[in-house]
Amino acid sequence: MLELTGVDVTVSGLKILDGVSMKVPAGSITGLIGPNGAGKTTAFNVVSGFVRANSGTVTFKGKSINHVKTHQLAKLGISRTLQAVGLFPTLTVLENVMLGATSRNKAGILSESLALPWVDKEQRVIRQKSVEILRRFTLDSVMDAMPGELPYPTQKKVALARALVSEPDLLLLDEPAGGVGAEEIRELSALLQQLTPECTVLLVEHHMELVMEVCDLIWVLDAGKIIASGTPAQIRSNQDVLTAYLGEAEVS
Ligand SMILES: Nc1ncnc2c1ncn2[C@@H]1O[C@H](COP(=O)(O)OP(=O)(O)OP(=O)(O)O)[C@@H](O)[C@H]1O
Ligand SMILES: [Mg+2]
Repeated sequence: MLELTGVDVTVSGLKILDGVSMKVPAGSITGLIGPNGAGKTTAFNVVSGFVRANSGTVTFKGKSINHVKTHQLAKLGISRTLQAVGLFPTLTVLENVMLGATSRNKAGILSESLALPWVDKEQRVIRQKSVEILRRFTLDSVMDAMPGELPYPTQKKVALARALVSEPDLLLLDEPAGGVGAEEIRELSALLQQLTPECTVLLVEHHMELVMEVCDLIWVLDAGKIIASGTPAQIRSNQDVLTAYLGEAEVS
């Protein structure tokens, strides 16, 4: 589904990603783990067009997406959540979720500004889909709330709903379990397993229990380099991984 080959990213003379090659098989939940500052978010930023690779290739469903623009992602079938929730503070929960679908719709900005009849219909469909997903996430009671009024774990759920409303083929999740409680992590684990195989998931996460439970395959990044890959069982007993994590979260 997704493949990075020899991806280098250098910022201000500092090599943040150093020859990163990794594969995300279609239908899998693939983990990307590593200590703080390893380059995980940067790898996501390369895939989603926020950061350009200095060299190397990124392919999605066999086609190069090296020069993808962020606004083209939803149309391609890629969706992501941000490490820092990233909801629009002046829009309601429902409006935030609707935005997740708007970028994959057919009506362009021009037809929207001309208020052509099919735009109305499309908006109604998007609204309906957004309400449905909020119901599925038991968030329907907070649909009209502003994100800032909600507890942090609820905001994370809204961000996930927004990423899913476009029905992506590939979902990139940057620390979905960060700052949320045990109950929400259990919910998240069940949800991720329900999403696959229709939607492929690439998961960046420090919460090792979750990673080990849900991932089919794990890649380990340390100081910009891939140091290991394998099944959860293989990663758990990999000496290089244990060394990279010393003084960090324990791999359990
Ligand atoms: N735009 C930038 N300019 C300069 N340095 C950057 C930039 N973006 C990232 N870095 C540096 O690159 C390294 C990798 O950062 P990145 O955010 O990708 O790590 P991460 O693995 O996601 O870490 P964390 O687990 O803490 O989220 C860090 O040392 C960071 O300070
Ligand atoms: Mg990060």
